[in-house]
Parts: sequence; C-alpha cells; structure tokens
Amino acid sequence: MSDLNMPEYKVSVDQLKPGVFIRLERVNWFNHPFLFSSFKIRSEEEIEVLRSLGVTEAICIPEKSDCLPGPAGAARGAAAKPATDKASEDLWRIKKERIERLRKKKARIAECEERYAASLKDLTRILQGLSRGNSQSVLEALAFVERLRDHFLSDAESTLHLMNVLPQSERVYSHALNVAVLSMMVGRDAGLDAQAMVDLGMGALFHDIGETRIEKRVLRKRGNLTKPERELIEKHPQYGQEMLGAIAEFPRGSLPAVLQHHERHDGSGYPAGLAGEDIALVARIVAIADVYDNHCNHPDPEESFTPYLALSYMFTQQKKLFDKDLLALFIRCLGVYPPGTVVQLSNGSIGMVMAVNPDNQLCPSLVLYDPQIPKKEALIIDLADEPDLKVEKSIRLKHLPQEIFDYLSPRTRITYFVEPDGNVR
Ligand SMILES: [Fe+2]
Ligand SMILES: [Fe+2]
Repeated sequence: MSDLNMPEYKVSVDQLKPGVFIRLERVNWFNHPFLFSSFKIRSEEEIEVLRSLGVTEAICIPEKSDCLPGPAGAARGAAAKPATDKASEDLWRIKKERIERLRKKKARIAECEERYAASLKDLTRILQGLSRGNSQSVLEALAFVERLRDHFLSDAESTLHLMNVLPQSERVYSHALNVAVLSMMVGRDAGLDAQAMVDLGMGALFHDIGETRIEKRVLRKRGNLTKPERELIEKHPQYGQEMLGAIAEFPRGSLPAVLQHHERHDGSGYPAGLAGEDIALVARIVAIADVYDNHCNHPDPEESFTPYLALSYMFTQQKKLFDKDLLALFIRCLGVYPPGTVVQLSNGSIGMVMAVNPDNQLCPSLVLYDPQIPKKEALIIDLADEPDLKVEKSIRLKHLPQEIFDYLSPRTRITYFVEPDGNVR
C-alpha cells in the first residue's frame, strides 16, 4: 500500500500522474506556466506541459498527494500534442493575468509606502511644532486626521498594509502614527461618527505628547526604574492633558484619550485607577492600539512579539485589562494573522502577511518565499484569489531557516498604514 506519510523524494516526470503533489526545482517561476512552483498535478496534460518545458524530474511530496507516483522506468503514454499546446496556452493565459496583477499590486504597495513616508514626515514636523507650543500644528494635525477619517468612513476598503520603515525613522513618530491608524480602524468598526473619529484620531496621535516634558534619560531607561522615576513617567498622561488643554484649537473630546490611555479595564491602570466604562471610549480604544504597538515594537527588538503573538498574548494573558468588545473588534480588524506574521500555507509554502482587509481577514496578501524567484521580484499573492490555498499556521521567527528569514526579511519594526485614497482592489 502506498504510504503518504513518507518524506519527499525525487521522481522522474515519467512516474507522475494526476493527484501527485510536486515541487519544481531549477525552473524559474517566470519560465513555467504554473501558478506556483509547488502544486498538485490535476491532469495528464499538465504532465505533458512539464515535458514540453524540458522538465525531467520533480520532487514528490507524498504528504500532500492523493496518490504516489508510478514505479520508476514506467513510460507513460504521451497525450496528443494539440491537447498539450492547448493546456499550456490555458495555463499561460492565467499566469499572465497573475503577473499583471502582481505588477499592479507592487505599484500600489510602492504608492502606499510613499504616502506613509510623507505622512510620517508631516507628522514629525507637527509633533515637534506642537511640543514647542505652536498651535498652528494642531490645525495641521486636524487636517491630517480628517483625511484619515474620510478614508476610513468612505466606501474604499481599508486594507491595512505592513510598511517598510527606514531604520532612522524616530520610533516616537511611527508609534503615534501606528496608534492613530489602528485606533481609527477600530473606531470605524465601533460605529463612531465623523466627529468622534476626529477626537479619537487626535487623541491617538498625541497620546504620549506629555513624554516630551520628561527627561530622555528616564524615558529611555529599561527596567529597574526607581520609584520617583516610575512616578515621573506615570505623569505623562497628565502632562499631555495640560499641554493640549492649554491650546484652544485642540478638540476637547480628544483629551480623555490622552489622560486615560493607561487606565485599565480592571482598575489597575493610572493615573486615576478608573475601571470599565468610567474610562472614556476613545481612551479604551487607544489603550488597546498602544499596548499592541508596544508589544510589536519593543525598544529591545529581541523582546518584541510577532504580531500574531502580540494578539494572542493580549487575548489570553491581558484580557482583563481591556474592554472585551473593543479587543474583539481590534482582532477582527487585524485579522487572525496580522500583517508581519510569517505563516505556512496549505501547499507547504512559507510567506509573510503583508496586508489584511478587515472585511475578508482570512484572505490576507502574502509575500511568498520561493528560491526560484529573486527576492526583489518576490511573488505576492492574495489569498482571496486562491480558493485552494489557506493559512495553516503561524511560524515563530526563531524557527525560520536563515535563508527564508533573509528572503522574507520579517520586519523588526511593525508599522502599518492604510491603502492610498481612491484605490480599490
Ligand atoms: Fe503612554
Ligand atoms: Fe504610547
């Protein structure tokens, strides 16, 4: 009897039959018409297409096959040539559409990265201006948040993208932007109206502004804080409220997000030890986005959680700290496998989640590891277009072979942004 649990092995093309799952080696993805370099053979014609490409061998993966290849040396009857040409043409037609979609997707990602870099630059200027007491910065921030709000409240899909952040970008600013984007994404799903979205966005952007009043030496100190140092750090919500409250243009509805973002659902937070619904809704949302971003972007990269782990940790170990309905919404927005998570797919491929659309979170976009494709041309697939593929599990970075790690280059900083305006999938 055939044993489908046996390890993978090399077979001759003559041994192949429909139902056998193979991996092509030494054939560039761009030079064969199959959508993936690993796939299950569906017809005799596909075997003929392989022959016509000059492929003589493949790796059989028994675990994913319906049946095992035939015995070695068994010459099989070749299908008629016209059928092969037709099969090859059909495969190429589909593949060319795929390549075109890939090209468009890469252009859209590049556009999103550009917009992110520009936003981060604007935001850096705004936050610096505001900490110097420049109230004009508040108006600029309002315009910025209103643009984000209009995006979230429009019918455009709010796909959340993983961004490549330049190492020199200051964490303070990318943190503010991450917390604002994530908070507003949750706010939209929580049904906030246009004004509440602006209050939330402004509160999220400036939630840590009070830290500018605290010595950098204390802020950067890791662990072993003295009691006075801890007390000083815990004053940043009040400092923030004082600074922003003194600016007439700053929306009053945003102040609770600044003052209460370290309050916790079970009353264990600071500064007032508020609990449950005594904490303002905007602050409950910002608290979740803030903790998540700090888990993913710990000052010591070794201590950072992967996005998947950060979510599981918050959901299992820190559940008591947050509003449970909002935490559930947050997880819904980010998807089970948030952007930045490295996953294994049902065909054995390994990829990293690049983007997730909250309305279809089981079908993220992924960049795939394929040693046959140069890294800079890496395949990006949308699981929504691949009915036969699904995510099987998340993989911890330390379990990733070096070669795959280098190829996918999982981010040491997890930074998100939303689709540029007016773009639909
Ligand atoms: Fe804070
Ligand atoms: Fe924060």
